[in-house]
Amino acid sequence: GAAVEVDISTLNPGEKITVEWRGKPVWIIKRTPEQLKELPEQDPLLADPQSLRHPDQFTPVYARNEGRSIKPEVLVVVGICTHLGCSPTDKFVAGPQPSLPPDWKGGFLCPCHGSTFDMAGRVFKNKPAPDNLEVPPHMYLSETKLLIG
Ligand code: FES
Repeated sequence: GAAVEVDISTLNPGEKITVEWRGKPVWIIKRTPEQLKELPEQDPLLADPQSLRHPDQFTPVYARNEGRSIKPEVLVVVGICTHLGCSPTDKFVAGPQPSLPPDWKGGFLCPCHGSTFDMAGRVFKNKPAPDNLEVPPHMYLSETKLLIG
């Protein structure tokens, strides 16, 4: 399928844009410094914190790091739950919210069967989704231009 070029120059911390690639939604999220700081603290709660499960399918070599990203602040993931393919909802705001643990730090909630993901798209333990959200193949053409695919 055709690769998609995305200009992220206007993306501010805490914001997300969605583009379509091969008929799938791809999310590009600029994480805040606070969101980045929380990532390592989530590790004990996650099913596969280091994305070692099926790495070839879900996490390209250049995204096998804490933030699952090339640039630490910019997350690029396919917005489709690895359970049965629903699209999770943004739950970026930390703190108590319906259907989320009281110490929620921000991430995504799948409305279909309740899988939760952190701000790196990593799935929490004991959830129906078996894997972290897929990081699609991507690269930077310049400081602010991404190529997905
Ligand atoms: Fe997401 Fe089932 S499709 S939890």
